[in-house]
Amino acid sequence: VIDQRPEGITAGCMQVEALLEGFALDRSVLEDVMLRLRREMEKGLHVHTNMEASVKMLPTYVRSTPDGSEVGDFLALDLGGTNIRVMVVKTGTDEVGTWKVETKVQVYSIPKDTMTGTAEMLFGFVAECIANFLEKHNMKERKLPLGFTFSFPVKHQDLDKGILMKWTKGFKASGAEGNDIVNLLREAIKKRRDIEMDIVAMVNDTVATMVSCYYEDHNCEIGLIVGTGCNTCYMEEMRNVEMVEGDEGRMCINTEWGAFGDTGELEDLWLEYDRRVDEMSLNPGKQKFEKSISGKYMGELVRLLMLKMVKQGLLFWGKASDALTTWEYFDTRHISLIESDGPELQQTSMVLKNMGMEPTEADCELTWRACNAVSTRASLLCAAGVAAVVTKIRENRGLECLSITVGVDGSLYKQLPHFKQRLRVAVSELAPECKVTFLQSEEGSGRGAALISAVACKMACRTTC
Ligand code: BGC
Repeated sequence: VIDQRPEGITAGCMQVEALLEGFALDRSVLEDVMLRLRREMEKGLHVHTNMEASVKMLPTYVRSTPDGSEVGDFLALDLGGTNIRVMVVKTGTDEVGTWKVETKVQVYSIPKDTMTGTAEMLFGFVAECIANFLEKHNMKERKLPLGFTFSFPVKHQDLDKGILMKWTKGFKASGAEGNDIVNLLREAIKKRRDIEMDIVAMVNDTVATMVSCYYEDHNCEIGLIVGTGCNTCYMEEMRNVEMVEGDEGRMCINTEWGAFGDTGELEDLWLEYDRRVDEMSLNPGKQKFEKSISGKYMGELVRLLMLKMVKQGLLFWGKASDALTTWEYFDTRHISLIESDGPELQQTSMVLKNMGMEPTEADCELTWRACNAVSTRASLLCAAGVAAVVTKIRENRGLECLSITVGVDGSLYKQLPHFKQRLRVAVSELAPECKVTFLQSEEGSGRGAALISAVACKMACRTTC
């Protein structure tokens, strides 16, 4: 693993080393994580073991053979983080036959109480955002096909029909779990009476990201999100997808690997900070793998580690400021600033001063090391996941070598200065038979949903025309 420590960082003593040691994962541990994940993935794919699998391997009904799509305007809606994004995507072809997309985008931030209120409130708010967007762009009179990126675990019965299994990432709106999400959105839109929408597809953000990158690079058969949450999808052989009838071709599987560890498979890896973050979350016992990697929890892991250092008298002369003792005060933006700091650690010092501390040089160095330990572990665990998935695809296809592209999105992946590089290097070490390219997606969630909708519209026309 590469050490990006700015020159001169040396702070540490036996106690510090012992605390940080817990976050270190060597190659054999990571290989073991890969094996355990593979085991859960297999369980998830088989009808008889799916119930007990932590990794649910959800069929998405997005298949491998999109042979053409409708040309025109689509509305895309993206719900899954702290914002709702609404956009218009124009799909079409150019002279070489590839897809072109042009977008108008609007971002709406979701009030916290709407995320944790009722489903009616949440979907009412979503419908309001759509209406506002259409109004702004003079499109209220048009009944556009809508592609909906909904970034939660959904058990699909078809492309436009799926039951929310459970909320994740700080969402908790009552009355949604166990219900068809497309229906909830349709009802909320109908209730308003001022807009009309034709919802043609609902997809996970991993799937939308993979599809949007596929149009740039036809080797893209994996979608990865490392943002508020963490998850991946990939193209699986239909013969292995026991939950859906048919053996021909491939179907995209939303792994929902964030729940890896929820049946105790990773207990030996978790540290006291992981357990605390889990206990304090809205979904204790759930999404354990996600909680060790993603942006919603990373700041907390660092903060708890720093508090432990304070308690042991290693940091800030043993005294924590109010901010440092405040739940969720510290977040990924702070980690980004600290990890991208130069040798003088001026940004680190600034972050700590803004938190009401008067840091010494050694305090800054230790803070840097705490961030580094947590974010490095996250990138390595994520790498073990990607390595497990590419290895599975390689074996599925009976190949000695596999060349494959992963479409990636997510704030943590984009913002943390060393995450990409650590992920890439670790994947190449853990899956040396695979040549893995990472392709960063821009607005992939929305564009992907629109592209999938465009294909779905064409298919619908084919069966009814
Ligand atoms: C959700 C996934 C989603 C991921 C990234 C997780 O919490 O369960 O469905 O893909 O976050 O947004």
